[in-house]
Parts: sequence; structure tokens; C-alpha cells
Amino acid sequence: MTLRKIALVGHPVLRQRAREVGREELETPAMQGFIDDLIETMRDANGAGLAAIQIYAPVRIVAIEVGDNPRYPYKPKIPLTVLVNPVIEVLGDETFENYEGCLSVPNLRGKVTRHARIRVTGWDRHGAAIDRTVAGISAGTYQHECDHLDGTLFLDRVKDPSTLATWENFERHHQAAFVAYVKEIVARYGQ
Ligand code: NI
Repeated sequence: MTLRKIALVGHPVLRQRAREVGREELETPAMQGFIDDLIETMRDANGAGLAAIQIYAPVRIVAIEVGDNPRYPYKPKIPLTVLVNPVIEVLGDETFENYEGCLSVPNLRGKVTRHARIRVTGWDRHGAAIDRTVAGISAGTYQHECDHLDGTLFLDRVKDPSTLATWENFERHHQAAFVAYVKEIVARYGQ
């Protein structure tokens, strides 16, 4: 496995629409090795997720995993999930406010509105069907990662730029209120 370099905001690769991956291509040793690198790079950077496009490969693959994450200590856990060609369907019209960060946007966080309930369909890393309903904070994580595949960054969705904060200022001035809000969301949606 190889740790890959992560593209930073301003690099044009982050603004591309990533292309679909075919079944045969997915099974190649090169693509399976690439997915191993994606997972390893996400874990090394303490990301809650990483899209292939963030490591300069514009294909529709994302990895998501939330364990005991020092970047996001309040996030509900998500077991390692690799999504290939994911499609998100919004369920209902409930939304919540999520304070997001991104490995491609160093030292900046901001508040975005996310759908509270979604259905995610696609493939796992071997082409088996994935079909899951996700709610609450975890739904925000899925939406953030899948946005990358269409060249969208969380910055594009920040409605109020006054919410932007460095990580240090987030921790100092915003984290306590946000963690209290996250607890409400987790209580409401269960994940
Ligand atoms: Ni991101």
C-alpha cells in the first residue's frame, strides 16, 4: 500500500465530475490496489472519509470510516465502507446544520445544511450491491463525500461565511455548542 498525496482546494482535479467505474475495471489488481491506498490515506490523515478525486483519481469511489477519530470525536461510528458509483436519494425534507471540515481544505471548518435522511445505493469494492438508509450526522458524512464526486466542496454549501473557523477557533469558540447540537441530532436519528 502507498500513502497518496491529497489534493488541496484550488487544484482543478477537485472541481471535475468523477467518472463511473465499470465492473471489469473494478476487479483489476490496479483498481483494488488503488482502493487499498484510498483507505490507507484516509486513515493516515484521520479523515472520516476520502473520495478518490481527492487523491487525483477522478473516479466515483469513496471510502468512509468513523472510529475513535481525533478530528471528529463527537461523530457516531461508521464501519469501513467503500462505495463505488454511489447515488444518493433524499428521503423527506428534514435538514440539519453540520459543521464540516475536509482534508482538501486545510484548517478550515464551516456550517452547511445537510439532508437528515438519505438512501445510498451503489456497489461495494467488489461490485456487490449496497443499499442503505442513513440518517443524522452520518448522513452528512455520506453527502460530503459524494459531493466530491461532482466537484463540490463543503465550502460551496456554506451559506453564512461568518461560520468559517480555523480548527483551533472551532475548538475554542464553537465546538461546545456544536457537540450539544450533535447530541440532539444523534438522539433524534439514532446515528
Ligand atoms: Ni472532503
